[in-house]
Amino acid sequence: MRITAEEQKIIQEILDMAERKTTHMLPEVMENPVTRYTDPAQVAREIDVLFRQFPIVMGHASDVAQPGDFFTHDATGVPVLVTRDNDGTLRAFLNVCRHRGARVEGKECGHARTFSCPYHSWTYGLDGKLRGIPQPAGFEGVERSQLGLVELPAWERFGLIWVMPSVPQAPVDIDAWLAPMAEQLQGLDLGGHHVFRKWELRKNMSWRLLLEGFQESYHFCHAHRETACSAYLDNQSVHLNFNPHVRHAVPLPKIEELRGTAPETWEYRPYFLTQNYLFPANFVQVQTDHVYIHTVIPTGVDSCIFQCMMLTPEEPVSEKALRYYTKNFDLIRVVFNEDFEIGEGIQKGLNTGANAHFLFGKYECGLQFGQRAIDAALDGQLKMPSLG
Ligand code: FES
Ligand SMILES: [Fe+2]
Repeated sequence: MRITAEEQKIIQEILDMAERKTTHMLPEVMENPVTRYTDPAQVAREIDVLFRQFPIVMGHASDVAQPGDFFTHDATGVPVLVTRDNDGTLRAFLNVCRHRGARVEGKECGHARTFSCPYHSWTYGLDGKLRGIPQPAGFEGVERSQLGLVELPAWERFGLIWVMPSVPQAPVDIDAWLAPMAEQLQGLDLGGHHVFRKWELRKNMSWRLLLEGFQESYHFCHAHRETACSAYLDNQSVHLNFNPHVRHAVPLPKIEELRGTAPETWEYRPYFLTQNYLFPANFVQVQTDHVYIHTVIPTGVDSCIFQCMMLTPEEPVSEKALRYYTKNFDLIRVVFNEDFEIGEGIQKGLNTGANAHFLFGKYECGLQFGQRAIDAALDGQLKMPSLG
């Protein structure tokens, strides 16, 4: 695959830093108050702002490949129904009946021509329009055209389904939002990938603790001593801050092969694990030959949901390919569980008073960038760009 100027720069920086035995560092250690992890009002505000007013990855394009395909998504606390309508347009709705509020579609996924509410069978089209009311005489005078399912902003971009779980005041511009990451995401062809596994966990920890496990590599050779440590250069990474998104490139030891060779001949993918943070809590984690998409969503001050998709470049059909990807999936679950166990342990100690604040070190650039972006969104400084 063609290497981009950004990737050439990352490789150059890694080689230079390895030679100087240093890594990306920020000028200051940052103090993060522990109340940010323990205050119920704080998490309520985070849910209201971060998980309502920004796009959340809810699926893969193949989940709604054909007109009539649908899936539901509830992890954000907002019941969402995602459909592909008869024109092929991707749509998302509040999965809430306009009669008296029942959950319209109960299944996780499927194929339908219409959606019929289980309570009194009001029926909606794939486009959300109200199509039928049984015994309509009882609703004479109501304006049916105003009683379609409430539509949410939804987009298919880079092979992923993004939904903003609230109705915005003005149309929002996802392309401007994702622009700094577009070249890289485009190059991955995630839409052409196969969803090999999906994985969802509920953890007893602040969503931020789970998020933070994916924002720095300082912990790799400690928390993942027996698993991921030897696969990467220890605490060596480049963080590109596209505020609020971050590209975090962690090199494999074999990057040294590139030293002294011509940059035009370099390849990027075989030499890196890339953790792309897409604000507020979506990750595209690119391995050398497959990709994990994960999203972290708070459900309370000390609980969260982790959703993960493993994407492979094609559907593995041979025994060998199947074994290979299964082994990778099993390994990543072990590695992630190492993080989650530590996170749940941190949660248990949060209220002891041992720490008034946590320290985000100079190496832990992703933590500092992420925290600043969260603060900016909560302060109203960071918003989704509007269309037009
Ligand atoms: S609540 Fe849906 S039809 Fe009555
Ligand atoms: Fe980790």
